[in-house]
Amino acid sequence: QKDGYKHFMLKEIFEQPKVIRDCLAGRIQKGRVVLTELDALDIPGRLTIVACGTSYHAGLWAKYLLESWARIPVQVEIASEFRYRDSVFLPDDLILTISQSGETADTLAAVRIAHEAGVPILGLCNVVGSSIARESDQVVYTQAGPEISVASTKAMCSQMVLLLLMTLSWGARKGTLPEEVKERCLEELAEMPTTLERDLPVIRGKARSLCQEYSDAKSFFFLGRGQNFPLALEGALKLKEISYIHAEGYASGEMKHGPIALIDPQFPTFAMALGDELLQKVASNLQEVQARGGRIIALVNPGAAPAVDESWVLPDVWGPLKSFLVLPAVQLFAYEMAVYLGKDVDQPRNLAKSVTVE
Ligand code: M6R
Repeated sequence: QKDGYKHFMLKEIFEQPKVIRDCLAGRIQKGRVVLTELDALDIPGRLTIVACGTSYHAGLWAKYLLESWARIPVQVEIASEFRYRDSVFLPDDLILTISQSGETADTLAAVRIAHEAGVPILGLCNVVGSSIARESDQVVYTQAGPEISVASTKAMCSQMVLLLLMTLSWGARKGTLPEEVKERCLEELAEMPTTLERDLPVIRGKARSLCQEYSDAKSFFFLGRGQNFPLALEGALKLKEISYIHAEGYASGEMKHGPIALIDPQFPTFAMALGDELLQKVASNLQEVQARGGRIIALVNPGAAPAVDESWVLPDVWGPLKSFLVLPAVQLFAYEMAVYLGKDVDQPRNLAKSVTVE
């Protein structure tokens, strides 16, 4: 079943090109997004995304797109917090729950709270017929295929694709999509599987080459700004859960508000410093880390990249699609580190694939 891969996690990371193709299959017609599941719902006046773990990070990532391209106010909530708060609902609210398994207890509880409050619920799930799928008013399936590894990888990729398609669908209906997005997004997205097929082995090679030097670190920071902030959170989660190295994901600009006190030569930073409009801001945050003796690995694009200990060059792709390369880079970094340290990658200690109890 592992198709020659050593672990399910590695197999699933390498399935991401196919996952993107499968997510798009039947959902793009004549250059437009077709998501009939959304047709039965009003365009939300406000969207509350509720999820846990990796699915929560996908929701955070989507907030940037939904606000900018579809002009929908978005709040993203950790399900275990949402369920015990006394939330205020508005008449044109929509609750979007994201769950690979569709069985996560806290996310399911959020569905039931929304149901009680009479708020429409849209589920974004991978497992067909799962509890969250059944109890939601509408379901969009991610079609990523079974995810066996406890560490979720391809599911996040599929969630990002579908969240992007939802944004394009609502943005088109509202007439808020920027021209460049209309012209380029779908075309560039369709290229992504080919780009990934070509580059995943290279990304893996780089991840592997970094392990030895950084395997003695007790802690890591993962830093990003904008849409790279949720990916920094995801990178830190992946490293923690399978290699057991402590890692914290932070918004780069928050470092100076306290965490930078921890930086020393034994506390490395994994940064996302890609060629986007926030690069200069990230570069100055990284200088502050370097001034305290911190070592830095940075994901960069060719060209204007900050000088760091390890520049990890990713191919430059259009706009937010950069995330589809950042994601496997942080996944493979965690994977190779865990393998190097001899950890049980597919069955990390203390963890279950779906958290069906509180
Ligand atoms: O099945 P779900 O997407 O609802 O699961 C949510 C989390 O339990 C899950 O993403 C978990 O954080 C993974 N172990 C992350 O790799």
